[in-house]
Amino acid sequence: MTIAVIGSNMVDLITYIDRMPADGETVEAPDFEMGCGGKGANQAVAAAKLGSEVLMLTRVGDDIFADNTVANFERFGIDTRCVLRTEGPSGVAPIFVDKDSHNRILIIKGANAKLSPADIDAAAEDLKRAKLIVLQLEVPLETVYAAIDFGGRHDIPVLLNPAPACADLAFDQVARCTYFMPNEPELALLAGMPVDTLEQVEAAARKVAASGVANVIVTLGRRGVMWLADGQVQTVGGLEVQAVDTTGAGDAFIGCFSHSVVSHGDVAKALAEANRYAADSVTRRGTQTSYADEVVAHPGA
Ligand code: RIB
Ligand code: NA
Repeated sequence: MTIAVIGSNMVDLITYIDRMPADGETVEAPDFEMGCGGKGANQAVAAAKLGSEVLMLTRVGDDIFADNTVANFERFGIDTRCVLRTEGPSGVAPIFVDKDSHNRILIIKGANAKLSPADIDAAAEDLKRAKLIVLQLEVPLETVYAAIDFGGRHDIPVLLNPAPACADLAFDQVARCTYFMPNEPELALLAGMPVDTLEQVEAAARKVAASGVANVIVTLGRRGVMWLADGQVQTVGGLEVQAVDTTGAGDAFIGCFSHSVVSHGDVAKALAEANRYAADSVTRRGTQTSYADEVVAHPGA
């Protein structure tokens, strides 16, 4: 195993809508799809589809969704020995995608809320073999911090994707990661600064980098990517594609970046690959179902 994802899994309940109902109103929606999601699981699946050996430390519930989620991991060759079972519901995510491909996501953490620092201790022998630990914020913060600690103790680089945005995320914990990968609102919240213009994004990224984190990588959607390391800024230009469903594009980016950076170690190249991989994913519906098996040269072409 080369990549350990410590984080969430959800069942995505994706409703394609013409418009949201008003208070007290019932509206017919044109389409619905159920899929496997959750930011951690999405990132794990993207990396596995691209050929990485991935282990997932996560918790599923004891409901009708749990077996399906485990089977889905297995389908992609993900190591499930650290997929733990919890009494109660699995995580679910009602998602609404409108005609302009914009999404609104609710998450109910369910079993993910029970992933604990003790689960990391119990998985230590397996986790030690990782070349990269990948984290998000759909599990308790104390568990995220324990994972950052674990990476530090065992000299394993840690990638933190601070999604969904969380006001309580501690700066000194971010500082200990090798890769900190927010989108704009997540960066704005942590830095406490606006990010409307690229100048503001850079200023906010510099503030976070001053904490000590080696690489601040801001994903800017169709505006591309900004990477700050050693005081130097590099950008990757956005790609124009016909967007159908942007749900999970951020996770496609993180999963592909993780796979690439572990495979060849070239961060700039990994960012360009992740940028193409994520752009390609928005041309298809769903989260994991929209992830390709390879990084295409011309997304959406
Ligand atoms: O980032 C997209 C994901 O966010 C969805 O799969 C949903 O499950 C939520 O976790
Ligand atoms: Na998609």
